[in-house]
Amino acid sequence: AAITYIEYNGEAHTVEVEEGMSLMEGATLNMIPGIEGMCGGICSCATCHCFIQLEDQAAMPAIAEGEEAMLEGVSERRAESRLSCQVPVTEAMDGLRIRLPEHQE
Ligand code: FES
Repeated sequence: AAITYIEYNGEAHTVEVEEGMSLMEGATLNMIPGIEGMCGGICSCATCHCFIQLEDQAAMPAIAEGEEAMLEGVSERRAESRLSCQVPVTEAMDGLRIRLPEHQE
């Protein structure tokens, strides 16, 4: 699926991410600036924080308890906040645009 990652400064990067990879893996494998994924995707660092429009989130797995706990610690928390390592990519996400925060924690 083609995923567009938009940096805080507005710079957009569109890359092809394989189904089954997480949004975080899609970003780090393509060296997208503004996303880190320090813990490797085990939901324990929150350096993969991103913003996904709520209407797009409707088709994604809901925020689980562990993800919610980590999100509570990020400084730029918004209603659209997600940890990108917790969102698996599907073909239905083709064309998805997600935004990245100014800082990762
Ligand atoms: Fe660490 Fe997502 S990569 S919480």
